[in-house]
Amino acid sequence: MLSGLFYGTFQVILRAELSMLKKSVKTILDGLSVAVFVIDAQQIIRFGNNAARDRFALTATDTDLFSVIPAKDCTTAANHVLTGQQSTVSLELTLQDVVPTTFRLIITRLDATTRTGADARAIVSLEDISHIREAEQMRIDFVANVSHELRSPLTSLSGFIETLQGPAKNDKVAHERFLTLMSGEASRMNRLIGDLLSLSKLQASERVPPSESVNLSSVLRGVAASLEPLMKREKNTISLTISPDLPAVIGDADELTQVFQNLIENGVKYSHPDTVVEVIAERDPSHENQLRISVHDHGEGLDPIHIPRLTERFYRVDKGRSRKMGGTGLGLAIVKHILIRHRAYLHIDSKPGLGSVFSVFLPIADT
Ligand SMILES: Nc1ncnc2c1ncn2[C@@H]1O[C@H](COP(=O)(O)OP(=O)(O)OP(=O)(O)O)[C@@H](O)[C@H]1O
Ligand SMILES: [Mg+2]
Repeated sequence: MLSGLFYGTFQVILRAELSMLKKSVKTILDGLSVAVFVIDAQQIIRFGNNAARDRFALTATDTDLFSVIPAKDCTTAANHVLTGQQSTVSLELTLQDVVPTTFRLIITRLDATTRTGADARAIVSLEDISHIREAEQMRIDFVANVSHELRSPLTSLSGFIETLQGPAKNDKVAHERFLTLMSGEASRMNRLIGDLLSLSKLQASERVPPSESVNLSSVLRGVAASLEPLMKREKNTISLTISPDLPAVIGDADELTQVFQNLIENGVKYSHPDTVVEVIAERDPSHENQLRISVHDHGEGLDPIHIPRLTERFYRVDKGRSRKMGGTGLGLAIVKHILIRHRAYLHIDSKPGLGSVFSVFLPIADT
């Protein structure tokens, strides 16, 4: 009688302990960012953690796994695990949603010794690794782009050297012409390497905001003066309109010089001859706590499809034209990274045939 009472009490305690343990496991699983499902032998979902419910819009359990993860590879792998052919399977899976998403899928048998046959259970976990795959692809594309961009001036240089050593060996006029072209290619390569170094330095310092007080008026005047030779060559002029009470910004003077150097240089390069590139620096009329510096040009403008891609490295609307002008296609990528560091942003407005406006919005110090 006493032992029966003891046994009953023991069972109550055990049940309470088990229920607490179950709750703890559920809390732990709900805290994970990885989607976790428990499926039975028929691949019916018996449990889904918070991430699984949110990511796969799982409203009820007792749903078929395939209707939630519509991928044959997943169903086959789950079958192998549930029938004991494999204890665990790990594979990469891309689901063709509105935006394709890549997951690392792991399916593991649960309680393989006690739960067998129709009682078998498996844990299915899916980790979204799209950002890792995207970063890898970007790195591969970047290396391919850099190699291509470095190879093209080198190929030209080798070609010129061969000509100078061969057919044009004694041609003084050709020597002059080829040496000028070679010097152009060499300086483009030099710029490319300088721009690549600038970009990697900027990315490393992006999280550390600058701290100097910068007078934009002198930055803009300096940039305009340095672009005099280009203006003469392109037969354009730059007009500067700077508000007299323009407040200083917290920034890095050299980096802001690089931003406006590229934007104004682009304005001059991509304008029609005998036009004016207007640079206006003022308080943003719609946001008192920021400055708006806009560069208006009267060039051919841009088709809207190009605008979102302009700040990508090496993206150029007309590659040949940009290269001929000594461009590397890294200018606007550098601008973007400098502006991120300055907690500022770029807005591009352009109409084909009518020209473009590139506006920089910079926060004013102490607001
Ligand atoms: N004001 C503009 N008008 C028309 N197209 C422009 C303008 N600014 C930039 N673009 C287009 O955007 C592309 C990218 O510009 P970006 O400044 O990054 O490179 P780039 O000027 O070609 O080379 P770099 O800046 O290295 O000299 C340019 O090649 C050009 O096609
Ligand atoms: Mg440029």
